[in-house]
Amino acid sequence: MPDAPRPVTMDKIVSLCKRRGFVFPGSEIYGGLANAWDYGPMGVELKRNVKEAWWRDVVRRREDVVGLEAAIMMNPAVWEASGHLAGFTDPLVECRACHHRFRADHVESSTCPDCGGELGDARQFNLMLKTFLGPVEDTASAVYMRPETAQGMFVNFLNVQTATRKKLPFGIAQIGKSFRNEITPGNFIFRTREFEQMEMEFFVQPGEDDEWHDYWIRERLDWYVRHGVREENLRLRPHDADELSHYSKATTDIEYLFPWGWAEMEGIANRTDFDLRQHSQHSGARLSYFDNDTNEHVTPYVIEPASGVDRAALAFLVDAYDEEEVGGEAAGAGAGETRVVLRLHPRIAPVQAAVLPLSRNARLTPLARDLFAGLVDDGRWRVEYDDAQSIGRRYRRFDEVGAPLCITVDFQSLDDNQVTIRDRDTLLQERVGIPDLSSALADRLG
Ligand code: GAP
Repeated sequence: MPDAPRPVTMDKIVSLCKRRGFVFPGSEIYGGLANAWDYGPMGVELKRNVKEAWWRDVVRRREDVVGLEAAIMMNPAVWEASGHLAGFTDPLVECRACHHRFRADHVESSTCPDCGGELGDARQFNLMLKTFLGPVEDTASAVYMRPETAQGMFVNFLNVQTATRKKLPFGIAQIGKSFRNEITPGNFIFRTREFEQMEMEFFVQPGEDDEWHDYWIRERLDWYVRHGVREENLRLRPHDADELSHYSKATTDIEYLFPWGWAEMEGIANRTDFDLRQHSQHSGARLSYFDNDTNEHVTPYVIEPASGVDRAALAFLVDAYDEEEVGGEAAGAGAGETRVVLRLHPRIAPVQAAVLPLSRNARLTPLARDLFAGLVDDGRWRVEYDDAQSIGRRYRRFDEVGAPLCITVDFQSLDDNQVTIRDRDTLLQERVGIPDLSSALADRLG
């Protein structure tokens, strides 16, 4: 039997994100700013969880990777050396009639997709955003907003290696904002001009680079699966030679099946020794590694898993989105109604457990508040308290933000010192003694 079509569409995701406080249009009360988005209370938690999950697995749990946080604005010489000033461009065409601009490789003919006018010749357009430091707007004070976090790791290679005495292979990781003056941003938070990256430069002995490239492709693909993304919605796509970045010997993208089709979520590149060599030449610093075994200086090769926080967050949301026709008290829906639920992995979900007294009541409230305070103090979980509206509406709200568990405090709780744990996915409800609640949560949330 063929699989049922996925219920998710971008319209549904955008609307859920606004309704439940994940993502709002940027500067909305002023009419917005094209393709700028603000993360609301749920979105900011979701993003933090994505970053924490990445940092935990790529940095904290490994002895061979350390962290870094470099400045967004760097000496302009960095971008000269890295090749971004000359080569970080997209081909741009402009309509002679309406003057709208498009990426040449995104339009299929020589006519304007907006007005049908004639498109001019393609020219290269640099994607770096420029600004000025200090009170004078002249070339001497021009700086660029970094288009990738990676260069922070390359220019600090010696600092980090000297400070940590790390031996090859080792990596330097960073999470932070990057900026690109994209010609055609779009698809919600998929392609924006301001976005956040999670990147790691893994320095290896030349000759061991192909093996490490394969290792990181597998490891990164596996990371998404471990965090709940369905395998059938993920694929690897090696780049053709003519689409490789100027620094890359080989790149494989991890693509996700978004509602509009397959698209890049992360790229894992073999950057060779390109960046360290370029910075050595341009800065005069010797960015190499002294190998005590061979008594030789080597310029390491670099394997770079580079992913986008916003894209990963979107993929998690899209993959988790589900609708089902269910009825009954546990579903918080009437018979035949549709329940919208985000089946997010507990590590990614913005809220992990919601404490819900059955109603606002002089006897229930103190017990529920006490229980909530205990879970907050415990510090292991992201918990929310909610006593507004009917229990059914509250279940629906927490399903829509992907909370794996709801803990209901009812009148029976006052007598038997037990609460009900409702499972988001199975809708099963189980009575658990309040003294056992922490271990019950640990079992279910990991
Ligand atoms: N340092 C290598 C590098 O930046 P990239 O493939 O251009 O490589 C890496 O970017 C990741 O950053 C992408 O896979 C994507 O997840 C994210 N990314 C790039 N441009 C983006 C944009 N305009 N909006 C949102 N995310 C973006």
